[in-house]
Parts: sequence; C-alpha cells; structure tokens
Amino acid sequence: VNYDALMAEAIELALRGRGQVEPNPRVGALALHAGQVVGRGWHRAYGEAHAEAEALAEAARVGATVDTVVVTLEPCSADKGVGGKKREPCVAALRRAGVARVVLGAIDADPRHRGRAVALLREAGVAVVEGVLAERCAALNRPFARWLTLDRPWTIAKWAMSLDGKIATASGESRWISGATSRRAVHELRARVDAVLIGYRTALRDDPQLTVRDVPGTNPRRIVVDPEAALPLASRLVQTLGEAPLTLLVSESADPARVAALTARGVECLRVAGPGRELDLAAAWRDLRARGVRRLLVEGGGGLFAKLFARDLIDQALVYVAPKVLGGASAPTPVAGPGIAALAQATTFAESFCTTSGDDALVVAIRA
Ligand SMILES: NC(=O)c1ccc[n+]([C@@H]2O[C@H](COP(=O)([O-])OP(=O)(O)OC[C@H]3O[C@@H](n4cnc5c(N)ncnc54)[C@H](OP(=O)(O)O)[C@@H]3O)[C@@H](O)[C@H]2O)c1
Repeated sequence: VNYDALMAEAIELALRGRGQVEPNPRVGALALHAGQVVGRGWHRAYGEAHAEAEALAEAARVGATVDTVVVTLEPCSADKGVGGKKREPCVAALRRAGVARVVLGAIDADPRHRGRAVALLREAGVAVVEGVLAERCAALNRPFARWLTLDRPWTIAKWAMSLDGKIATASGESRWISGATSRRAVHELRARVDAVLIGYRTALRDDPQLTVRDVPGTNPRRIVVDPEAALPLASRLVQTLGEAPLTLLVSESADPARVAALTARGVECLRVAGPGRELDLAAAWRDLRARGVRRLLVEGGGGLFAKLFARDLIDQALVYVAPKVLGGASAPTPVAGPGIAALAQATTFAESFCTTSGDDALVVAIRA
C-alpha cells in the first residue's frame, strides 16, 4: 500500500495547529477502517488532546472501528506527569482501540522517547510502517526540536499594532487598538501558558490584571520585570493576588524595605543578578524554567521587547494587526531600544503566516 497521499492529508491537518501548539509538535492523524478515512484529528492547541486521540474519538463518534492509524509523528509513550505531560500516552489509546497497523511519518525528536512507541507497539503485535514522507513530517516539528535544546521557557511575544506599525498614538493612547475577537484570543492564550510577563513601565502605565476574564480558564502566574520593585501596593496586579500569583524580577540593589512590603502582601520577589539595576534576563529566564515555567507569554512593552530580542529570548511572535492607521513619527512602535545597525543582525524567524482574528489580521512568526 502506498500511504503517501494519506500522510500528505495528515500533514495538512497538522498544519492547522501551527501557531497554537508550539513548542509542542504539530501533529495530524487519520483513523482508517478498511481503507476509508473514518476519523481526522490534529493537535489543536497547547495542552489539548493529541492528534491520534482526536482521530480515534471522531471514529468512535460515528461508530466506526479503526484498523489503521496514519500519523505524522511517532505517538507519545511517556506517562502522564513525566516532563510536564498532561495526557495519557497515545500508545495505550491505540492499543485500547484495537488498531492493527500504525503508519508513521517522523520519529520522536526527543532522545528520551525516540523509537520507544515503535518498539512498544510492535511488542503488542501492532504492525508499524515507518518513514512515510519522513522529511516533510520532521520539518513540521522544527520548533519542537528547537525547544528540546532550550533551558528556558518557550517565549511568545504578543503585541497589537495598527496597519502602520504603531502600538499607541503620539499622545500615548493605546486602548484599544485591536478588536474584541483578538482581545478574547489573548485571554485564551493566557489560559494556555504558565506565566504572563510585562515590563514595569507597562505595569505602571496600564495597571493591567493579566488574568483570564473573557473566557473560561485558569489564570497564569503574573510576572513583572521590575528592577527597583516599583510596583505600587495599590496596583491591580497586587490587589488581585487572591486570583493569581504575582512575581517581580527585581535587581539585587532593589530597596529591601520595598521588597519586604511587597513580600508581606504575598508578592514573590526574585532577586536577579546583573550589573547594578540591569537584570541579566537570560539568567532570569533559566531560573523561571527551573521553577516550572515552560511556556511564557510576554505582553510588552517595547523597552522590554528590545532587551529580549537583543538577548535572543523570543521564540514566537503573535502580532495582531488592526485595520487602522495612526501615523505620527513619534508614535511608539512594538520594539523600542537602540535597534540594530545592519540588516544582517536582524532577528529572523524561520516561518511566518497570517490568519484572521475578527477584523484584525494575526501574523504569527516562529523561530526554529
Ligand atoms: N499595544 C500593545 O500591544 C502594548 C503592549 C504592552 C505595552 N504597551 C505600551 O507600551 C508602553 C510601555 O512600554 P515601555 O517600553 O515604556 O516599558 P516596558 O517595556 O513595560 O518596560 C521597559 C522598562 O523595563 C525596564 N527593564 C527592561 N529590561 C530590563 C532589564 N534587563 N534590567 C532592568 N530593567 C529592565 C527598563 O526600565 P528603565 O528604563 O527604568 O531602565 C525598561 O525601560 C505603555 O505605554 C503601554 O501602554 C502597548
């Protein structure tokens, strides 16, 4: 049997999840009965069901038995809880469904799991066909392969701007540039990250809560890069401590009395090394990962983004482009700082694509 056409369809399904699932792999799957497709699935969003499970569930919904599953990536075999894993292993789900043959594209890039599902399935008497459109399937997962090399959170930069690249008017008005659909999507995203982080100037100026309000979902930890522990006790971030935890990244020179006052209110203040009040953000990022932050959303502002791009700490950008023109040579743009002198120094993403979000365009760019 030539499985190329079926695998090509599974690849198309996998691509539907891109922009939403990273740093997880993008995966698509087909469930077959006697050569007919009876279920289709893809990994839709970080933390959601895996592609194989979705395809099997669709087949079950229409009452079909499944003899073959075609999937772009070796199924997961690690138990729930291992390495932050949120779901039961797909290998077990395939066996429970009585699947007789599994057709694979790429083998798991994680050296801890590579080839393990293939061995487990064969041991259980399931026929495994490997390497179908293997290169295209592996290419789907370049961000996942990058993630395996990082010792810090997968970091997503999100901003909203006008068609002409402004994040506020020349007089500083910025609410709201993007539409209601985009703002709701950001709340959904907050529910799918471990933490949301901003610079202290944004915290002081906008007084945000950074909680999940427009949709159901769990609040992430809120983090502020705040070298002098300047966040007021009256800020909404501090006032909403009962809803979600709050961490400040402060310098070693931050006033101990301010730190003590914030700590007494329940704010976690992490001292970050660095020359004077300048925090070593790379070190802070490693520390966040060690504390369990695997997926981090940064919501600005421009001063912070400049430092993060300069340190190569951004893996993905989500840019909401509203159909508005603000103009003004002095109106702020998403990334401030001194910028670079030569184009060759530009941060260059491996891929970018565009979708719509209500009346806005959403541009997604991903490093790999
Ligand atoms: N449209 C949007 O999507 C959007 C999103 C967010 C924010 N905004 C707007 O952006 C504006 C705020 O942006 P902003 O650039 O002024 O401020 P910001 O990015 O919130 O904070 C930047 C400041 O944080 C400090 N900082 C950053 N990295 C540091 C490090 N490694 N060590 C020590 N300090 C560090 C620096 O403070 P010092 O300068 O004191 O050294 C820096 O100026 C607000 O007007 C807000 O409304 C718009």
